This record gives sequence, structure tokens and C-alpha cells, in this order.
Amino acid sequence: MNELPAIEGGKPIRDGKSPLRYRPWITDEDIELVVDALKSGQLSAIGGRWNTALEQELSKYLGVKYAVTVSNGTAALHVALKALGIGPGDEVITTPLTFAASATTILHSNAIPIFADIDRETLNISPASIEEAITDRTKAIIVVHLAGYPAEMDEIMKIAKERGLYVIEDTAQALGAIYRGSFVGSIGDVGTLSFYPTKTITTGEGGAVVTNNDDVARRARLLRSHGETGKYYYELLGYNYRMTEFQAALGYSQLKRIEEIIRRKEMFSKVLMEELEYIENDLVQFPRLKPYIRHAWHLFQIILNLEKIRVGRDRVVNALRAEGIEAATVVYPIPLHKEPVILNMADHGKGCPWSCPYYGRKVTYKPLPNAEWAAERIVSILIGPLYTEEDAVDTAKAIKRVLTYYRR
Ligand SMILES: Cc1ncc(COP(=O)(O)O)c(C=O)c1O
Repeated sequence: MNELPAIEGGKPIRDGKSPLRYRPWITDEDIELVVDALKSGQLSAIGGRWNTALEQELSKYLGVKYAVTVSNGTAALHVALKALGIGPGDEVITTPLTFAASATTILHSNAIPIFADIDRETLNISPASIEEAITDRTKAIIVVHLAGYPAEMDEIMKIAKERGLYVIEDTAQALGAIYRGSFVGSIGDVGTLSFYPTKTITTGEGGAVVTNNDDVARRARLLRSHGETGKYYYELLGYNYRMTEFQAALGYSQLKRIEEIIRRKEMFSKVLMEELEYIENDLVQFPRLKPYIRHAWHLFQIILNLEKIRVGRDRVVNALRAEGIEAATVVYPIPLHKEPVILNMADHGKGCPWSCPYYGRKVTYKPLPNAEWAAERIVSILIGPLYTEEDAVDTAKAIKRVLTYYRR
């Protein structure tokens, strides 16, 4: 099979069909609940019932004591860090292969992000690299379950326990993923969720902080809403990170079918893995599914074997898009330790937090070979809950056509 790809003048695989693009799954029932919330006249979380209802259902689903809804996943990370008391002079270890917010919220908390390298097989943070990055200033680890694939939580929790560190699970991409029988987000001290439209469930914009810790939950609840404990009585330095009632109603409705959403995404990925078997380990590699995990399938990640392909990763993505697979994309082409916001040490003014007197050392960012290796060769397919089996077959065909054509 060496057909001409569409980008080289061939007929696109999706010829005659609409391009495969991500779309959130919004049902009539979702719309009804949002309309009900709007008609109720109660639009803010203050005094509303839908935020409370979503919190109750989320905590039940994840098996945690508390869930606190917030305005987005970035706010959730900021609240989690502040609820744990992370601040000036502290270091927080995270992965460089993630969305910027996993690290910029550390800076927003006036602390310093330190990057550990990743594991090439799972693309998640490497426990051994975390250990190497710990200093006497380290207070916490932000673990990201990248693309919906659970990070190695047993090893990470062991390190955290031994070294007295908090663990925040950035579960923005992985709501519904399971690690050794527990939902990710429920294993560390705090979990954070995002309900952005491409995430497992959506509220448009939205997020939540989940925890089993009474004090962290109380602080998170206060931080979300100005630190107000009584009417115009402010106990903590808080924010307005509240979610509206009509968003919470949408989240509540979506959460009812989360298992079906995950099953649909699993179907797409399973077909893709079967169809791509014969180019696996030759032209591509995928993060291997371990028997003790359930992937939440936010993204289907393809690691290109660039040694055997005669074009760069961006050409491959453009070629897939030309076939009509517009769900193909590049996420995180630059690992965070090489992004200008980190390299230029963007600050709050007067050098803080980087040269804060409480910090007392100058951080330098070393190369992280595995993250750099991955950042230049991953192609991601954004998986939608509405994709069909035919969509999966088309995606696989496009990948095979493009990669076999560009084989060296
Ligand atoms: C890993 C990760 N963390 C945090 C966030 C931030 O979530 P939000 O976009 O809801 O602020 C995202 C969202 O893209 C994410 O993918």
C-alpha cells in the first residue's frame, strides 16, 4: 500500500464525508436542564442548587469525601495549591509535557515550578526523575495524567510519603481513568478537574477540586469565593472562581452518562489500535496499556518513529488533516521548561517568585531528554464521544497511508 496522500495530490480518505472534527456531545436532556436552571432565575452558585448537586454526584462517582466546583481547571489547580498552603519559597515538581496551567498556577501561587522528566513508554512524569528533582524546598508534586493515561501513582505516593510532600493530581484530561481500582484524582491529597469542551464531561468552561481532606476542602470552598465565611466577613485571601448554575446543570446532566462517554472513546481507540497493529513498533509506538489501568482516552497519542519517516511531525499532522482527519493535532510541541514564560522567568513584578528573598537560590532548567524527544514526535488524535467505528477506520487508514508513503 503506497497510495498518494491527499496532501501530495491524492483523493482524501474522507472524500465525500465531512471532516472528522471534535464536537462535544450535548443531548436534549442536557439542554432541558440548562434551560431549567436559566428559568429558575438562580444563576450564581451562591445559594444555587446545581453546583451542590454536581458536587455531590462528582464526589459519589470518584469515591471522595468532597468536590468543590470552580470556574475552570486552571482555577482548580490554583485553589488546590493555595488550599495546601503552597507559597513563596516553595518548589513544586511537575511534568514538562503538559498544558501550561499545570506549571503557571505554581507561579501564580508565588512558588517555583521544577520539572522532572517523563517516562518514554507512558509519556507521564517519571517517579525516578521526581526523586532526583526533590530539594529541601520541595513541598508538592503536581502529577498530570496525560491524555487520560494514569500516572504511576503507587510509586509517586510512596516517594511523597517518604519525603513529606503533597500530591496534587491534575486530572483535567483524565476524569474517569482508573489506577489499580481507584479513580485518578482521588488518590493524592487533592485532585483537580477541567470541564473544558474537549474534556470527558463539559460545562463549557468549568472545573472542580476533589479531596478527602476536611481542611483542604474547607479552604478550597472559601478560596473559590473571596474567602468569605459570613456575609461580608473575609477569612482568607480568596478569588471569584465560582461556576454558574446553568453550567453546573450541564455538568450534572453530562456526568450521568460519563461511563457511556468513556465506552465510546474506548471503542474508537480499540479499533485504531487493532487497525494500526502492523505499523506498531516499526513506524509508530503507542503508550502501552497496563493491565491495572483504565485509560480515559482524551487523546490517542501516536509516537512517530522519526528515524524511519522522511518528513517531520508537522508534515505528518498536516497530511492527516488533508485526508479529512482534522482531529489530528499537536499538543505541547514545546516542553514547558523551554517555553518563554519559564525561560524568561515571567514574574509578578520585582522578580517574584524567582528572586523572592524567601526563595534564596537561582533556579536553572536543565535539558530533559525524554520530554524533548517526545515533544517533537507525538501526534495526537483528539477523541470525541460522537465518533463512529467508521471514523476510527478512516483515521487508521489515513495514518497508514501517510506514514507508509513517507517511510524512508
Ligand atoms: C493537563 C491540564 N491541566 C490544566 C488544564 C486547565 O484547564 P482549563 O482549560 O479548564 O482551565 C488543562 C486544560 O486544557 C489541562 O489539559
